Amino acid sequence: MDGNKPKQDEDNLTLTTRQGHPVRDNQNIRTVGNRGPSTLENYHFLEKMSHFDRERIPERVVHARGAGAHGVFTAYGKVGDEPVSKYTRAKLFQEAGKETPVFVRFSTVIHGGHSPETLRDPRGFATKFYTEDGNWDLVGNNLKIFFIRDPLKFPDMVHAFKPDPITNVQDMQRFFDFVSMSPEATHMITFLFSPWGIPANYRQMQGSGVNTYKWVNAEGKAVLVKYHWEPLKQGIKNLTQAEANEIQAKSFNHATLDLYEAIERGDYPEWELCVQIMEDGEHPELDFDPLDDTKLWPTDKFPFLPVGKMTLNRNPEDYFTEVEQSAFGTGVLVDGLDFSDDKMLQGRTFSYSDTQRYRVGANYLQLPINAPKTHVATNQSGGQMQYKVDRAPGQNPHVNYEPSSMGGLQEAPKPGKDHEPEYNARLVREPIDRQNNFGQAGETYRSFEPWEQDELIANLVDALSQCKQDIRERMISYFTQADPEYGRRVKEGLENVGDIESGQIDPQQGVDLSHEKGKEADPY
Ligand code: HEM
Repeated sequence: MDGNKPKQDEDNLTLTTRQGHPVRDNQNIRTVGNRGPSTLENYHFLEKMSHFDRERIPERVVHARGAGAHGVFTAYGKVGDEPVSKYTRAKLFQEAGKETPVFVRFSTVIHGGHSPETLRDPRGFATKFYTEDGNWDLVGNNLKIFFIRDPLKFPDMVHAFKPDPITNVQDMQRFFDFVSMSPEATHMITFLFSPWGIPANYRQMQGSGVNTYKWVNAEGKAVLVKYHWEPLKQGIKNLTQAEANEIQAKSFNHATLDLYEAIERGDYPEWELCVQIMEDGEHPELDFDPLDDTKLWPTDKFPFLPVGKMTLNRNPEDYFTEVEQSAFGTGVLVDGLDFSDDKMLQGRTFSYSDTQRYRVGANYLQLPINAPKTHVATNQSGGQMQYKVDRAPGQNPHVNYEPSSMGGLQEAPKPGKDHEPEYNARLVREPIDRQNNFGQAGETYRSFEPWEQDELIANLVDALSQCKQDIRERMISYFTQADPEYGRRVKEGLENVGDIESGQIDPQQGVDLSHEKGKEADPY
């Protein structure tokens, strides 16, 4: 035993200050006489109060409301029927049965930290894999596509979707103002206003990396990949608007509680990780660009190939330490996984770690929830809240730079041939060529079951009834280009509710929604 260290008594319940001083009175501050005034040297009081004053960190600028759980990812060692090594050398996938610890944070997107979990909103599905080669973050959503395809538009989109800067209330007119000027959002809107826009809870929903990545094998050859999480035994379930309203009347925490309680009773949710693979390249034969995140890759051409299974089996011990301070980013890849040229992906990759340095602090990667569970040795040091030095045991502590001949850290050997794509193009500011903004929106509309189509139309009519006429007309034109019946039904629904500008309807009231009940959903 360390002679200077007092023996820790595990059963010692004595309250102390953060300085280790036993607290002998936690009810009364020190005062001149028992009626006050108090004095400034009340160290215990000042410490307690000033820590309380700092209990919050900035909430995430998007995805503020979330719930998390720990678990394990088990690899199948194959991708579909082929050895996974044909496509990627990433170690976590190679051997059948290989286990990698994970932490997952689910979230809603637009509203604040304690907002209802019944809202129509994409759901976040972010997974941190603590692999032997360091961390891999797969930062996904429940829906497989996104609203926009250029990252420059993201802050505007979020401003339009978040509460109005004056009233502090979300406004469908602002929302659809932006969307009606961004035709590429039509496909995402088609999913979002259908029952797929309100998953029943976090367990019974899919996940998707949305953006296109690459897999790289030992020869340095790459393929394009998309990642998808498919719920296993718990299935998929979405809500109608009426069902969501009913739940929200009783609880606005139902998804957090559902996840927590399922894990507490040992009913561990499971997902299969599937990939879609496409040869690297531009694929001019397709009517969409494989890097366009507003598009699905058709599963008849690019089937879902299972690569492993994830089980969530442990609740966090402390919400703030683990869930709130967790930090995921699209730049966090391991060897064998790579970026594609998807410009959204590059935009996201800057944004995540940038916001985390502000939201959590410069040393956020030293927090246990974010730190890799493997060898970490950097020459980075200092900054607020440095917790330790990331030094290797055999490292000369005087050498915090590289290269050095005096026992400092050294570069790792190359794990395989680098993937070295070649570029030869003009530097431009231009949208992509194959935009096809409406084709897949129509296919998605036609793939819905009748009750899902009815819900979609009713939800859109409700939201658009709160918008002025030119916004409605632009949206109707997009839906019509997607599918004439789709456009006609929204148009007819809006004709029945009247015109907001003529004062026939109250924009805050919208229209009455009484729909068919939801049911178990088929995966898309
Ligand atoms: C969270 C930016 C698109 C999924 C965030 C955060 C930022 C951000 C700043 C907060 C991160 C934090 O505070 O830790 C962006 C930008 C995007 C974009 C700039 C586009 C250019 C997407 C897309 C998806 C997505 C397409 C879906 C695949 C998520 C998820 C979270 C998140 C799941 C929450 C992560 C967590 O639980 O901590 N995003 N995002 N984002 N984003 Fe994005």
